Amino acid sequence: MSRFFIKVAEKSILKYDFCQMNSKLKEKIFKDIQAVADRVETETYVIGGYVRDLFLERPSKDIDIVTIGSGIDFATEVAKTLKPRPRVNVFKNFGTAMLKYNDLEIEFVGARKESYQRNSRKPIVEDGTLEDDQNRRDFTINAMAFSLNGDRFGELVDPFNGMDDLNNKIIRTPLDPDITFSDDPLRIMRAIRFATQLDFEIEDKTLQAIARNKDRIKIVSAERIIEELNKIIMAPKPSKGFRLLEETGLLAIIFPELQNMKGVEKVNGIGHKDNFYHTIEVLDRLVPNSDNLWLRWSALLHDIAKPKTKRFVEDLGWTFHAHNFVGVKMIPKIFKRMKLPLNEKMKYVQKMVGLHMRPIVLSEEIVTDSAVRRLLFEAGDDIDDLMTLCEADITSKNPEKVKRYMKNFKVVRQKLKEIEEKDAIRNFQPPVDGDLIMETFNLSPCREVGLLKDAIKEAILDGEIHNNYEEAFAFMMKKAEELGLKAKD
Ligand code: CTP
Repeated sequence: MSRFFIKVAEKSILKYDFCQMNSKLKEKIFKDIQAVADRVETETYVIGGYVRDLFLERPSKDIDIVTIGSGIDFATEVAKTLKPRPRVNVFKNFGTAMLKYNDLEIEFVGARKESYQRNSRKPIVEDGTLEDDQNRRDFTINAMAFSLNGDRFGELVDPFNGMDDLNNKIIRTPLDPDITFSDDPLRIMRAIRFATQLDFEIEDKTLQAIARNKDRIKIVSAERIIEELNKIIMAPKPSKGFRLLEETGLLAIIFPELQNMKGVEKVNGIGHKDNFYHTIEVLDRLVPNSDNLWLRWSALLHDIAKPKTKRFVEDLGWTFHAHNFVGVKMIPKIFKRMKLPLNEKMKYVQKMVGLHMRPIVLSEEIVTDSAVRRLLFEAGDDIDDLMTLCEADITSKNPEKVKRYMKNFKVVRQKLKEIEEKDAIRNFQPPVDGDLIMETFNLSPCREVGLLKDAIKEAILDGEIHNNYEEAFAFMMKKAEELGLKAKD
């Protein structure tokens, strides 16, 4: 049995009740469209993702309507019958029209035949039949259509047995996969994304074609690739997608830094852990505790500099010295290339990566107040996210070790809470600021002002004084005296 069929056989098989199909088209809009389709005698279907999601019971607000004939003319007719009458947004170049109606987005297009050129995702488009239109679609589960005409209303047109593939949880292309992927290589990413989001298996021939056509991904824009990658990251088990990306050779093209983390080197029989598999496990472990895309990116990048910083040191074994700081420096280049935002979202990821070892180090030692205060000062409001990331980072297979770490993290979390209640360090504002220092000692901006400010901050973080005006002011006066500064009269 092939690897694919073993995987499928292991899965629970979904079964849909075919008798219920008519009642699947519950939205009133389909009856409205049927009335127009019958009046203007136009063959009309609802097709693609909406149909797939109906069976998967994933609520969707995006409806694609295909007509045999002009989609724009048909949309205009439909709009006239709706109340309140929606605006028809026409995209002449694409031959499509879109209506926003209540909370639905309905796109109308005439059935078409497409042919592609080697170096472009832009097809040459001709009018076609429903069959032509279904042939040009990416996967069998995305090529099913419900008729909306007369007594055919609700009839499923499924020439590629998409329904069987939905039941058996399979991603498969309608045509020869080499043609489907070569026509539009974004579908390579979509196949892996759907497999991850829906927990489906990619059929063997389709998977092999992905690997064969992987280099075609280079004609897809970074923006489209990242859209799919982010959907993989937000899926219930992102590691599935990253394994597929790696196995098919795509990861090395779109994310070489992550690919470089794969593998185990050995010196004198001593190996280190495989950082690729560790990373995707951390990401999976984060999923139940956070749906913050940027915290998930932080998990993906937390060890990204391990290959760069890896050394074997006699007596010590493998070390990855300062991999967190080197990782912080690698992030802007990765974000820029992948067209991820270069704003505060990136800064947040940098902060998480830079600090990701601190709670672990802290939990290994006696948790002192001053160490906790310093961590709170640096992490600020993102402290809870940092702790969530660090807890996900414990992937040891040794249950005793895991138990110990988790217990220590509990202590760290408790200490964080106590110190924050007492000293309010999270959003640290110096209780005595530079203006007051200059005013008190009649200074203009100079080195001494910085020294005093720093000394006050350090004294608070070390717990020498509390975070309040009186104690900070008294401390400033004492420090100033040591520096030979005199308060003005
Ligand atoms: N489609 C395709 N090839 C693509 C993109 C889309 O064949 N590269 C077709 C599929 O039939 C798909 C439909 O167009 O179902 C609608 O595409 P889209 O709205 O992008 O995706 P959905 O399948 O609806 O899924 P999602 O909203 O999760 O992206």
